Amino acid sequence: MNQKRIDAWNSDDLPIFEPNLFEVAKLPRDGSADREANLFFTTDVKRAIAEADVVFVSVNTPTKYAGIGAGFASDISWVELAVRTIAEVSTTDKIIVEKSTVPCRTAESIRDILAANGRPGVRFDVLSNPEFLAEGTAMNDLLHPDRILIGSLPNDDGYKAASSLVDMYAEWVPRNKIITMNLWSSELAKLAANALLAQRISSINALGAVCEAVGAEIDEVAFAVGLDRRIGPHMLKSSVGFGGSCFKKDVLNLVYLSECLHLPEVAAYWKAVVDINEWQKDRFAKRVVSTLYNTITNKRVAILGFAYKKNTGDTRESAAITIVQSLIAERAQISIYDPEVKEDQIWEDLGDSPAARKQVTICSNAYEACADAHAVVILTEWDEFKVGEYASTDVITPVSSGPPSPVSMDDGDESAKEKVFVSGITADKVHHSLRPKLNWARVAKMMQKPMFVFDGRNIVDPHKLETLGFRVQCIGNGRFGMRQ
Ligand code: UDX
Repeated sequence: MNQKRIDAWNSDDLPIFEPNLFEVAKLPRDGSADREANLFFTTDVKRAIAEADVVFVSVNTPTKYAGIGAGFASDISWVELAVRTIAEVSTTDKIIVEKSTVPCRTAESIRDILAANGRPGVRFDVLSNPEFLAEGTAMNDLLHPDRILIGSLPNDDGYKAASSLVDMYAEWVPRNKIITMNLWSSELAKLAANALLAQRISSINALGAVCEAVGAEIDEVAFAVGLDRRIGPHMLKSSVGFGGSCFKKDVLNLVYLSECLHLPEVAAYWKAVVDINEWQKDRFAKRVVSTLYNTITNKRVAILGFAYKKNTGDTRESAAITIVQSLIAERAQISIYDPEVKEDQIWEDLGDSPAARKQVTICSNAYEACADAHAVVILTEWDEFKVGEYASTDVITPVSSGPPSPVSMDDGDESAKEKVFVSGITADKVHHSLRPKLNWARVAKMMQKPMFVFDGRNIVDPHKLETLGFRVQCIGNGRFGMRQ
């Protein structure tokens, strides 16, 4: 419906930053001498629906901000609008696929609306096919998914519709990774997956606070527990708190569902996952203030990273928003640098208030942000902020040349992912993974003394930074943290 955005999808400057997306989309979109185009971006919604055999409903389902369930329930009005349009314009049978993350039993509402509004003789089958890809690794997740989930009604028509969708995915996904199940299980599985992933992060962040108090290191604890195959090493990286458009929204959706089902204990259990995340952001901001001698009024604080995770320009629910707002309230002067987040987005996220305009500067590189700063605060784990070779000039250095951390919590597939992305580098654009590493020795020369680094992602090597004269605080680290 948004012409400007569709125009961008049809251009060489896609409207979102996602590694390798352009390379994946370009050939099917533009075609070539030996391949016809088969990917079209259009605002002609009705025609696209009318011509389709399968329609994926992939619209926004944000948290409701008003009315019943405000702050918890999902707003599925866009889903309903899409479904009503499908019913109105369809003249042939169609499979409708729920791709948006929706509350449980939304498929029932969809079926009801289609039945009441569809033309006579037109048949609709509704399937659930939740999306599990994560931003930053979306193209790799698309090509090599852990699983594809397809939910259908448990009857012959449902199975037949599901099997058409299975065949479609089987074009590139091994059949044993394509799972079919009951529609309601499939809908709930998406919320359950995100709730469990978010819960792991809140659990590790809660344990991190204990580490700080007893002199332990959360990366070591996570490494030790992750070696247990029943636990596994993924999603155990301590941080300033999880962000992104899914985790908070989906956990709160589960909280709301549990309340509606008269399960207050279950609701309270999942709500605690979000509460710990809010607490983590708050306690990190407080630590910055208390370490800088309990006042940051007019002190310059450099913020490195504003996106909710690396390899994306997305800031939705980013911990950086809350933390920067807390520092603004303490009247600090704040310089923000993020390699991918657009300046307008940062202003929008910060509310673009007079206080923000007066106290915040958005910088085009990390050195500009760190000049004259009393503290550097790392909020996104961009590779370029990691401690690399102390290059005397800013040469292009591949990420793999950095020294290994004493304890690696990296996902074993990570290097493979990087290779996929690197292969997609275009001549006119320096890929994020090839940007020069921050020269911390140069940063040290430009900061106020004493100089502090607050690493909200545990990506720097505190020992190395100490040799350069920094005082380092790492999240969940009792040696380089509160106890120091
Ligand atoms: C998530 C799910 O992973 C994905 O399956 C679902 O389809 C959408 O929601 P996404 O939000 O894109 O994907 O990113 P993810 O990598 O899961 O990270 C979410 C947040 O948790 C980020 O802020 C990230 O920095 C944080 N995180 C992740 C941690 O703090 N520690 C970790 O160990 C992992």
